[in-house]
Amino acid sequence: MISEYLSIHNSPVLSGTLSVVGAKNAVLVIMASLVLTRGTSILHNVPASNDVIQMIALLKSLGARIEFDRHHHKLTIDTAEIKKFQVSPDIMKKMRASVLVMGPLLAQFGKAEIALPGGCLIGQRPVDYHLKAFARMGAEIIENGSYVSAVASQLESTRIVLEYPSVGATENIMMAATSTGGVTTIINAALEPEVLDLIEVLKKMGAHIQIKPPATIEIAGGYELKPIEHTVLSDRLEAGALLLASAISGGSISIPNAPAYAMDLFLYKLEEMGHRIDVGHQGVGITLHAAQQPRAVSFKTGPYPGFPTDLQAPMMVAQCVAEGESVIEETVFENRLLHVRELQKMGAQIEVNHNKAIIKGVDELYGAGVIATDIRASCALVLAGLVAQGTTNMTGLHHWRRGYEALEIKLQKIGARIAVHEGEVKSTVNAKQPPTRTEV
Ligand code: UD1
Repeated sequence: MISEYLSIHNSPVLSGTLSVVGAKNAVLVIMASLVLTRGTSILHNVPASNDVIQMIALLKSLGARIEFDRHHHKLTIDTAEIKKFQVSPDIMKKMRASVLVMGPLLAQFGKAEIALPGGCLIGQRPVDYHLKAFARMGAEIIENGSYVSAVASQLESTRIVLEYPSVGATENIMMAATSTGGVTTIINAALEPEVLDLIEVLKKMGAHIQIKPPATIEIAGGYELKPIEHTVLSDRLEAGALLLASAISGGSISIPNAPAYAMDLFLYKLEEMGHRIDVGHQGVGITLHAAQQPRAVSFKTGPYPGFPTDLQAPMMVAQCVAEGESVIEETVFENRLLHVRELQKMGAQIEVNHNKAIIKGVDELYGAGVIATDIRASCALVLAGLVAQGTTNMTGLHHWRRGYEALEIKLQKIGARIAVHEGEVKSTVNAKQPPTRTEV
């Protein structure tokens, strides 16, 4: 495999108008849900990120026929010939979201066998909630080394309490529950916008699903599910990355199709920093005018509608170059501050205490050689590179490619000096020794 790296140079003010593609986290589970149907479905607004390409490979390995028109972001999936219920370890280890086929396979074939999933290095990320829920629905779970299989001739409807509102577990349980003969209730369910997009898809297929306050989902099973056509929800995480890129550069940006209605706390925090945010009609579309002297703000990640953990690392970069001190607490994943070490190489003043990062804003960051350790860390390092003096060379580019479809090209369009290079990274010498800021 040819090695690649991204070089990011100190960039001018980033301003312009851009649109975002569909949400990777929505499309992956929607693709998995098509296993519940027999026939051809069409998805629009599908990003050509590497995780989507992996999910295509996974579904093909089960027997699906798939065409991907990347240019028009249109994915056509024919599930009529899916006969297999085993996912190979090769596919499984590349993408944690592969576990999302387990519920649909179990519902459709009464059996699912997978290797335990891989993914980002952001914590242990077990799948015990998924497996416990399947067991409660009557499946026999057999763990054998790095494999796990679930078997049930007929899943039973039941009441499932989640210890934590896990996105993936909620999605897997909902999909499995469509095959039962009664009503399955999920208490403490995740209600992320991507979960709601899946619910919309399942309802289009013919499923009967209700959301009840405060966080309960009821799925009435037993209805025949049919192929669908669906436009995937726009990506709030890509929108967040673009807004931050413009904000830290002191620019202005408009994203007419950004799902502002699903980004409230993030947008509120940008406003608290001093940036001006205008939201479009019915919560769709965002325009940001950057503050010239943004103030540092503190926040804590949490399940939706809390601050999204996937925007924690990118938002941290904005605090690194803001005026004052902030405290960022990561509560969703136990090991999601790996980007701190890399930001420190660039002159960021950050101390870590367990799951908290205490950040003192500095006047300048400095280009360095950095390594991306997960998808959102890669985004943070790119953002830092855009405001850093000199050049930042980032390796670990596969993480960037897993989560975003050519986001570097979009950034170029608004003025970013960023490019992909093939080969080994050239050594990066810090532009100069980073000073500490005196006033904080
Ligand atoms: C999804 C998103 C990911 C996002 C995360 C939280 C996809 C493809 N990925 O991941 O981008 O960061 O939601 O919004 O949609 N947990 C367990 N046992 C389980 C399942 C989860 O302990 O069986 C824990 C996890 O380790 C984590 C927390 O629950 O600490 C939340 O994880 P979860 O919501 O399940 O995240 P994912 O669905 O994997």
